[in-house]
Amino acid sequence: MTAADLVQRADSITTAGRDAVASASSLDELTEVERAFLGKSSPLNEIRESIKSVDGRDRATVGKAVSSARAALEAAVAERRVVLEAEAAAASATRDRLDLTIRGRDYVRGHLHPVTRIWRELEDVFVGMGYQVAEGPEVELDWYNFEALNFPPGHPARAMQDTLYVRLGRREEVLLRTHTSPVQIRVMEAQRPPIYTVMPGRVFRRDTLDARHSPVFHQIEGLAVDRGITLGDLLGTIEAFIHALFGSDIRARFLPSFFPFTEPSVEFAMSCVFCRGEGCTVCSRTGWIELGGAGMVDPNVFAAVDIDPETYTGFAFGFGIDRVVQLMYGVDHVKNLWDGDARFARQF
Ligand code: FA5
Repeated sequence: MTAADLVQRADSITTAGRDAVASASSLDELTEVERAFLGKSSPLNEIRESIKSVDGRDRATVGKAVSSARAALEAAVAERRVVLEAEAAAASATRDRLDLTIRGRDYVRGHLHPVTRIWRELEDVFVGMGYQVAEGPEVELDWYNFEALNFPPGHPARAMQDTLYVRLGRREEVLLRTHTSPVQIRVMEAQRPPIYTVMPGRVFRRDTLDARHSPVFHQIEGLAVDRGITLGDLLGTIEAFIHALFGSDIRARFLPSFFPFTEPSVEFAMSCVFCRGEGCTVCSRTGWIELGGAGMVDPNVFAAVDIDPETYTGFAFGFGIDRVVQLMYGVDHVKNLWDGDARFARQF
């Protein structure tokens, strides 16, 4: 072939290559076109190979024609690549787009069990009166649950608080605590007066389940030990917490009672929150609702923890949290509190 033929061929390859580049509709297709027109076995390379057969003077002309054909095609490919890349990016942005307006999955938020809520409210009321909060073990030694509280072995008052024993230590030495009063002993062992502490917790008794009794329930205990504490302080404290929790029109009542660890002992009640003392089914027409027991710390209890009863006096009280919850929320049967039925719990 003559040099002129080769130059013309290079021109027509450039035209064909430009057309092929323009009609490449994807990056893959463009790569194919690039390989075909600019690769090793491309027609332009063949022309370069055949330069050797051209007359020496014309070689430069053919070489230039091949170079400018290459440059033109390379520029066309680069230009087309920019366009196709932009198109591909736009397509993938549409295809993979995140729709940020879609709602998330609903998160169902629970709430505290009513007993936990009242437990914490009671703590808050007493903390507001300057008390500290303490807790003790649910599996307890006979010493703390009974003996240090002045229930010697065989004392008839033990029968009122029959419980489950744990096979640990000596026979009947380890038991499920029947009340929160053992925490009084633990607090007095750990700390010298003045003591102002409340002790909430779970307790256990061999009680048959009925509307107001459960074998597992919750109590909160209170203990104040200081110089010059009197029964009047006890009565005032109980009245103050009843007013804080139920309102200042609710009255407190005290009746003489017996507990081995307090002397004198009282049972305390509040006027019925439903009938305001008139008498209704909740208060069995008495106008009063029993809350718990209380009294002045017995000197024998002080002796068990090495506190001098000539220097210090104190009062203690304890009552059922579950009962308070039943009253506040009108729960007729205590088992409803612990059935684990979400439909019941959701009401509060
Ligand atoms: C006691 O448990 C004494 N530890 C209270 C006490 C503390 C007296 C400090 C003096 C000084 P009692 O057995 O009465 O007392 O129980 C207190 C309260 O616990 C009861 O008034 C009642 O509200 C609640 N309670 C008793 N047994 C059950 C039960 N089986 N289920 C639910 N609540 C109960």
